[in-house]
Amino acid sequence: MKLNIGIIGMGFMGRAHSNAWSQLNKFFDTDVEICLKAVACRDKARGEAFAKKWGYESVETDWRAMIARDDIDVVDILTPTYAHKEMAVEAMKAGKHVICEKPCALTWQECHEMAEVAKETGVVTYLNHNYRRVPAVALAKQMIEEGRLGTIYHYCGKYMQEWIMDENFPLTWHLQKEAAGAGPLYDLGSHNVDLARYLVGEPTAVQASLRTIVKERPEASAGAATFSAGESTEGNAKKPVTVDDAAFLILDFENGAIGSMDTSRFAAGRKNFNCFEIYGSKGALCFNLERMNELQYYDMTNDVDHQGYRPILVTEGSHPYVGAWWPQGHIIGYEHTFVHAFYDFVEAVRTGGKMTPDFEDGEKITKVLQAAQISDAEGRKVRIDELK
Ligand SMILES: NC(=O)c1ccc[n+]([C@@H]2O[C@H](COP(=O)([O-])OP(=O)(O)OC[C@H]3O[C@@H](n4cnc5c(N)ncnc54)[C@H](O)[C@@H]3O)[C@@H](O)[C@H]2O)c1
Repeated sequence: MKLNIGIIGMGFMGRAHSNAWSQLNKFFDTDVEICLKAVACRDKARGEAFAKKWGYESVETDWRAMIARDDIDVVDILTPTYAHKEMAVEAMKAGKHVICEKPCALTWQECHEMAEVAKETGVVTYLNHNYRRVPAVALAKQMIEEGRLGTIYHYCGKYMQEWIMDENFPLTWHLQKEAAGAGPLYDLGSHNVDLARYLVGEPTAVQASLRTIVKERPEASAGAATFSAGESTEGNAKKPVTVDDAAFLILDFENGAIGSMDTSRFAAGRKNFNCFEIYGSKGALCFNLERMNELQYYDMTNDVDHQGYRPILVTEGSHPYVGAWWPQGHIIGYEHTFVHAFYDFVEAVRTGGKMTPDFEDGEKITKVLQAAQISDAEGRKVRIDELK
């Protein structure tokens, strides 16, 4: 079976996804042959340079024209959040399988519409919460399912970054509500909620505090959708930041666990500090993306003299996804998680199976995040089922 891929967007995720599509057939055994067919972008010259570098056959300057093409099987949406719903709905209605970057969409209602169209059309959809497919995270899931943690009491998630602490960092799309929906609450918190739902269960209520620390910022230089390191914003007019800079959440879970999720873009020294601690009656697991080949495990069933956290180096061929890569101890990185996800996605397309997380998951995740916004605005604990 051959799958022709068309991507929309050529930024950070444009590169990460193109790399993963190129690696898939080289490392994973599958009967699906991947063909990099088209790039949809707004600037033809940039699109052609990108297509040449990554090996795409063609360029479209109108994403609708790319979706309408008969020779596209999968539409991979890599644009800012505001565009996700419109592009995904149009692609699904055209019968294409769809991959969409997180966060799913601006509101849970938009996510709901995406989920409904996915059901009606029967195409395979995938919302790219790639951290589920870090081998150490997939191993954590296996260990929880094996009962090694017993009853889970707590999920403590944290996703910290520092990249906008300079108050002259420009007002990119990430800092505008109409483009991004929210700040780290959506950007980082969506990953956090996805991991919590995957590993622990469904959140039922949330209490939150959100803060915007730098309230206005210089506009990005003309045409700069994304800030490039070193770009000056001196003299540019300042405009209000309309999203949170930090969001701290406390959560109740359906299974009785309680937990927390902290997200911030003002956490000095934290580059991409995505971590969780899960505490259960028989032990605990801790993960930190900045040390992503390790999973810390505390086994309470060991005798007390020999307890203590120990790192499991998750590089054995028997660990999830690892067998496709290198011999034991030869570590992997961020980019591999996208290859793992795309392998599972193409296998779902090949077998007519389901891929997770999908847009229905996106709706559930976004409800938790919007409940956090309501909680902050109204100063109260908000049940997720209030959002209907
Ligand atoms: N899974 C992850 O680890 C991860 C990491 C970073 C970003 N993301 C998500 O990926 C998405 C894109 O983020 P990014 O960092 O790549 O952004 P980016 O700003 O680097 O790139 C966005 C791209 O989309 C293009 N674009 C914007 N509007 C468009 C339109 N209407 N038609 C065609 N192209 C359009 C821009 O020109 C640019 O090429 C966001 O939803 C973001 O949250 C996911």
